[in-house]
Formats: sequence, structure tokens, C-alpha cells
Amino acid sequence: MSQTQPHFLVFTFPAQGHINPAFQFTKRLIQLGVKVTFATTISAYNKITKSGQVPDSFNFSVFSDGFDDGYKPMVDDTTTYLTQLRHRGTQSLKQTILSNAEHRTPVTCLVYTLLLPWAANVARDLHVPSALLWIQPASVLRVYYYYFSEFNNLFRDECNDPSWSIELPGLPLLKTRDLPSFCQPSNTHDFALPLFKEQLELLVLEENATILVNSFDALEEEALKEIDGKLEMVAVGPLIPSAFLDGKDPSDKCFGGDLFERTKEYIEWMNTKDEGSIVYVSFGSILMLSTKQKEAMERGLLASGRPFLWVVRDTDGGVKDVKDKEELSCMTELEQLGLIVPWCSQLEVLSHPSLGCFVTHCGWNSTLESIACGVPVVAFPHWTDQSTNAKLLEDVWGTGKRVTANEDGVVEGEEIRRCIEMVMGGDEGGVTMRKNAKKWRDLAREVMKEGGSSYMNLKAFVESKLESVI
Ligand code: UDX
Repeated sequence: MSQTQPHFLVFTFPAQGHINPAFQFTKRLIQLGVKVTFATTISAYNKITKSGQVPDSFNFSVFSDGFDDGYKPMVDDTTTYLTQLRHRGTQSLKQTILSNAEHRTPVTCLVYTLLLPWAANVARDLHVPSALLWIQPASVLRVYYYYFSEFNNLFRDECNDPSWSIELPGLPLLKTRDLPSFCQPSNTHDFALPLFKEQLELLVLEENATILVNSFDALEEEALKEIDGKLEMVAVGPLIPSAFLDGKDPSDKCFGGDLFERTKEYIEWMNTKDEGSIVYVSFGSILMLSTKQKEAMERGLLASGRPFLWVVRDTDGGVKDVKDKEELSCMTELEQLGLIVPWCSQLEVLSHPSLGCFVTHCGWNSTLESIACGVPVVAFPHWTDQSTNAKLLEDVWGTGKRVTANEDGVVEGEEIRRCIEMVMGGDEGGVTMRKNAKKWRDLAREVMKEGGSSYMNLKAFVESKLESVI
């Protein structure tokens, strides 16, 4: 038997939506008793460690993406950033794996997140097994798979027609507005599809490729099924701190990898509000609302008359030096009704008893967190996977109401007010959404408990990788 100890290297794209699930995944591996190294860029590492929330058990490896003073993954020229990341990341990943081998702590499995397909090539060249940690729903992976398959023509045919829809195995009927934005005719981001194509081709070529999905069996039963006998997905989510799920580790209350600084006063403010009364508004870590959309949001929140907590970030993660909050026009009225913060612990907010509804952009982490905390949503998608997530929330899981934009793409204040009322008001629709949200919350909590489906899947994955080093 070889003396090699299992050692997982978790390699992440430096954005909050990737770091959070990857961090939680790492914690879960450590809980299962394996050695893990968490690798990301220097700038992400500096921000993460500044937050003071990183567990002592964490072992880091860092590399430069050329933006050590501030990360810029979504700069206008994203393609240039991604090319640079690929070049530098490939070299650094190779070095990390080789140096670990020299120091007798060889990497026995590489786990990498979205947008980094080249990481799989490095692993293959160095004969290290690898697994993709897919940080979006299985349903979205399925759409990309079919988009690049023989179904491709169907996507293109009449996709511009609003009555167009497509039926794909394992998925609900999808209209154009439900597709990931990169597959819609209006897409203007060129960087994404080539990366997804490359990723899927690599996975199909690799025999027995492992795709770990931040989801759970009951949530995406059909979508998680094997695709065409070529791709197998394993649900290991929701990757959310234990305190909010299985209660196994009450000290595990935050992701620990925040790239933004937060204040604390909002919890005290929430404590003063009635049960189920607050509207929480947040659009994740990348999106910035246009001035028109921000004004409409102000009007909608004021018209709803309900207390609200709105995250308006001071920056968009270093891309532009924007101070969003200063642009708000009805500051005095807004502050009488609600609280505006630059960042918060979203899980603490979502699990607070005074919370009634989440107005969300439907990033996959926010979507899963709303499910795990049993909070109904106003689904306000913008791009990437968010439109598909909104479709699932509204029509499959029945926990949300999706907004409709006007011809200029702005969701008007009245529409925002109307949707908040539908979710929080006394009508049958709202009552059903709240009931469904509680049902999904209970299921999400079961799966991470010892013996639950995601717990068992993760354990089986770890054990399969232990076997491969013996
Ligand atoms: C990105 C994409 O935009 C999204 O569509 C994809 O599914 C994942 O990658 P992002 O836009 O940042 O993610 O949204 P989301 O996936 O929701 O992740 C944001 C994370 O930041 C969540 O885990 C949320 O809890 C956290 N957050 C957000 C905070 O902790 N505090 C805040 O104030 C806001």
C-alpha cells in the first residue's frame, strides 16, 4: 500500500459567488478528516484574510492574476482578463502541484470551479485526478450541454419570438427569457460560451469525469440525472455554513471568505421589526443597477411601505470606483423606512425571524440560500444563469414571483411593489409561496445531515478519491 496521504487542492475563480461555495466545500472536506489546500488569487486572499473569519484549519496557496491590488474579473474586457488568468493560473497551478509532490504532500485530487477548464488540463498532464465543482444549478449545466449538442439548431430557430419555447430532457419547458443569458439572442458577452464549450468537451472526453454540483437530489431530481450516458453529476449541496443547515457546528455561521467589508448595525435594526415584515434587497457581488433601475427600486420600496434592508455596495469589487449609495435620490424618505448597507452577512439576514421576502438577482448562491432559509423571493434576474434560476424559483419550486421589465429593460417601481405584495400579502398565491419555501427549507436541511443525500454523496466522493491513492 502506498504511503500517500490524501490531499485535495481546491482551486477557485476569484469572485464571491465561487469563493463562498468552494470555501464551504473545503470546510466540509476538513470535517471529513482530509487535508485540503485552498488556492485563489493574491488579491482575493488578501481580502478574505482581512475579514478575520477564516478558520485556523485553512491552508492557502496563492497566485497572481496580475491584479494583486484589486480583482477585476468582470472588467469590460473580460476576455483579456480570462486569458491572463489562464496563462498565469496554469503556470502557478503546475508549480503548486509539483512543489507539493517534492515536499511529500502530493495533491491527490484537484477540485476546480467554473470558468477554469484549463485547470483540468494541468491535472491531466500531471496525472492528478480532478473534479469540477459546478457552482450553478444542474439545470443550467444541462442547458449548456444541449446548446452544444444536436439540439443546437432548435435554440437558434425561432428564439427571438416571445412565444418560442424549447423542451429539453430533464428540464421544464423553457422560453427565451428562461435560458441562461449567454444562450439568448441578445447576449453581448462573448467570453462565456467558448469556456463552457471547452469545459463540457473536456468532461465528455474524460472517462468517469466527476462533476460535483452545489445542489441537492430532491431539488433537481430530473436535472441531476446522467446526461446522454456521458456526464454524471453528484449533488453535494447546499454548500452553506453548518449552523444554518445541519446545526453540526454552531460556530460555523459564515462562509468566511468575504471580499467586502460589512457593518453590523443591521441585525439590531432587524431585531426591532415584526416577524416576517422586512423586505431584503440584494443583487450579489457583481451586478450594479443602472441609475434608472435604482430610481425605480427606490420608488417601488417606498410605495410598498414595508421596512427594507437594501445592500448597495460601495464598489463593484474594484472594477469601477463607484459609490452607488451617493447616487440614491430619495435618501431621506428611504432612511425613514429602511436601512441601506454596503454588505451584510446574507445568511444571518435570511434566517432572521423578521425577514419576509428577498428581492434577489437569483445568483445561484442567493437562490440556494433563500431555499435553505425558507424565504420566498421576488425574482429579479439580470444575466448568466439567473434567468433560468428565476424560472425554477417561480414555476418549479413555487417559492417566488418573477418581475417583468418594460420595453427599455427597466423593472418599474409599480411592478416591484406589486411583486413584493404578491409574495408578502394575504392572497392565496403568497400563502402558497411561503408554504413552499418552508417545505424546501426542511428538505435542504435534511440532505446535509449525517445520512442525508448530499452528505452521503460527498462522503462517497471523498472515499473514492482515497481509494485511488492506495
Ligand atoms: C455570480 C453570478 O452572478 C451568479 O449568477 C452565479 O450563479 C454565481 O456567480 P453573484 O452575482 O455574486 O455570483 O451572486 P450569488 O451567487 O448570489 O453570490 C453572492 C454571495 O455573496 C452569496 O453567497 C451571498 O450570501 C453573499 N452576499 C451577498 C453576502 O454575504 N452579503 C451581501 O451583502 C451580499
